[in-house]
Amino acid sequence: MFRVYIAGISSYLPENCVHNNDLSETLDTSNDWIVSHTGISYRHLAAEHESPSSMGIAAVKDVLQKTGIAAEELGMILLSTTTPDYAPIPSTACVVQDAIGAKNAVGLDITAACAGFVYGIELARAYMQIHQRPILVVATEMLSRVTDWNDRKTCVLFGDGAAAAILLPSPDGERGVVESLLKSDSSGKDVLKIEGGCRTSTSHTDNIPLTIFMDGKSVFTFAIRILPAVITQLMKNNGLTIDDIDWIVPHQANYRIIHSAANRLGVPESKFFINVQNFANTASASIPIALVDMEHRGLLKPGHKIITVGFGAGLCYGGNLIIW
Ligand code: COA
Repeated sequence: MFRVYIAGISSYLPENCVHNNDLSETLDTSNDWIVSHTGISYRHLAAEHESPSSMGIAAVKDVLQKTGIAAEELGMILLSTTTPDYAPIPSTACVVQDAIGAKNAVGLDITAACAGFVYGIELARAYMQIHQRPILVVATEMLSRVTDWNDRKTCVLFGDGAAAAILLPSPDGERGVVESLLKSDSSGKDVLKIEGGCRTSTSHTDNIPLTIFMDGKSVFTFAIRILPAVITQLMKNNGLTIDDIDWIVPHQANYRIIHSAANRLGVPESKFFINVQNFANTASASIPIALVDMEHRGLLKPGHKIITVGFGAGLCYGGNLIIW
């Protein structure tokens, strides 16, 4: 059977690690509130000299070195970001392509918010059925640049970070992506947005800064509904039960969302990998950053069955069932 597998994965996190108590020095918030409402303690924030592409490139260089794939061998670069280097052209994928010298690749950005890595894996799987060449899937997010740092309802939630994965044809037809579900419920397109695009500018003299807007309660309600639904559907489609699944790797948005999904599914929380406490919500980079974290902790073994679930603005969502 033709399958596509993740041959290597790396992440990059900016050096500057900020604790909740650092935020409460300048903002009307507290460590207690943030931890009790989100589970977040720390987030990494990019330095002035960094950009979404520079973070992505750092992760890409590492994964190329790890897998022994030369940049010239890449057939495609799929880059997920909600914070492109430019708004919106050239694509950040093309910026990365140029920097690493992947001259035989096609570069394409994915706009699927926090579901972007899940979408990227499936798009890579589909493209590779025709062009069987290595594909790089990158997720890089610098939400600190689009956050209103006076808005305590949003700014405490996000962090910066990047990750990159090399996808190859599966060596044994067993390891790899078994199935993906990709969905979008655009009736919720207004509950999570980055304002400041052409629709919100009224003339060429406008210079509206990009700023994230979120109706937190609506996003919460959506997330706790779709997280169990995606997991259940992927298991059902493949004749699996929760006992067959080694790990669920959800988008790391908020501990309470994961806790609630585990309760609704009747699954022990220990099935879910959770590291939101250390990195906050890094949008589409959160799932691959979690996978790297799991590898570092020795939690992922070849043959493990894992389900990823991403969800975010759009409202885009979906999941991948992967044999590691
Ligand atoms: N520190 C202290 N107080 C805060 C605060 C902060 N950082 N943020 C909000 N508050 C206050 C509010 O002002 C409000 O005060 P009030 O009752 O005096 O008006 C109170 O806390 C409750 O606010 P509310 O917005 O009702 O909190 P909540 O329980 O809904 O939690 C979220 C807010 C954002 C944590 C929650 O809605 C959530 O997790 N949503 C999903 C967000 C998400 O994951 N988005 C990304 C998806 S990809």
